[in-house]
Amino acid sequence: MNTSTSTNKLLTDKQFVRISSIAFDKWGLSLGEKKVQLVSTRVSKYLRTSRFSGVDAYLDYIEQEATPADLLELFDLLSTNVTSFFREIEHFNYLEREFYTSLARGNTTRPGKRIRIWSAACSTGPEPYSMAIQALECLPQLDKWDFKILGTDLANSAVEKARSGIYPAAMLENMPKELLAKYFEPQGSGEDLAYRVNDRVRSLVTIGQLNLMDEWPFRGRFDVVFCRNVMIYFDKPTKDRLVNRICDVLQPGGVLAVGSAESAGNASQELRTVQPSVYVK
Ligand SMILES: C[S@@+](CC[C@H](N)C(=O)[O-])C[C@H]1O[C@@H](n2cnc3c(N)ncnc32)[C@H](O)[C@@H]1O
Repeated sequence: MNTSTSTNKLLTDKQFVRISSIAFDKWGLSLGEKKVQLVSTRVSKYLRTSRFSGVDAYLDYIEQEATPADLLELFDLLSTNVTSFFREIEHFNYLEREFYTSLARGNTTRPGKRIRIWSAACSTGPEPYSMAIQALECLPQLDKWDFKILGTDLANSAVEKARSGIYPAAMLENMPKELLAKYFEPQGSGEDLAYRVNDRVRSLVTIGQLNLMDEWPFRGRFDVVFCRNVMIYFDKPTKDRLVNRICDVLQPGGVLAVGSAESAGNASQELRTVQPSVYVK
């Protein structure tokens, strides 16, 4: 395929191959030809205001002398951060039915009532904040638990937005009114109306920056891991390795949810499918 024709000469085939190989080596991303247009547009837009004379000069720099910050800037250009509150509600329904009901009944042997949840590749944060809202709704005595949610993503812009916890009103359109009133504070008005996740919700969530392909700094294990709508960007060996690593950081009996269009397949013998795209270790 001649990408230079299909992308109005924004990126040549060779340049796209160079970017794809960086994306795969550093972040596990398999860009595939469907991404040519998107990558071309974003890289060209970035280069218009950069100090580089063109795509080749930029790629030479990235390949030979890029700092971690330069690489993160490129990752931001390549990543897709689409997300929403209570996305793929069937995963939240599973947690309510199976996980929180059992905790609320006191069916737990967890030492120190410790619960740890990881929203891996959380993008701008609606996923971990939805998890926190659900926990507050499902466990009336949440204060008595040592309960923490970690949300991580690699993209600078996503992590920054997740840390701010501020979302345009359009992202909250489907939030039930009583939850909106209970867990969000309005900011601004008219077209600038936004909502900030309130302190009660934020106190349960820590946002961190993490490349899923790197070493993970976790000391304890997780009771629940959501790793959703990110594996679609990985090839099978990368996805299988990731599923196995997640399995290693899950408690026995812990829950893993992947995106509803994804599957943990048979990557790990230790995972049992409990509903489509939900697994228990
Ligand atoms: C489509 S969003 C999914 C967000 C959320 N999990 C959901 O389902 O709504 C995919 C996220 O994966 C992140 N991502 C992609 N590759 C990654 C990697 N190697 N390490 C960490 N995050 C990554 C992107 O930055 C992006 O925010």
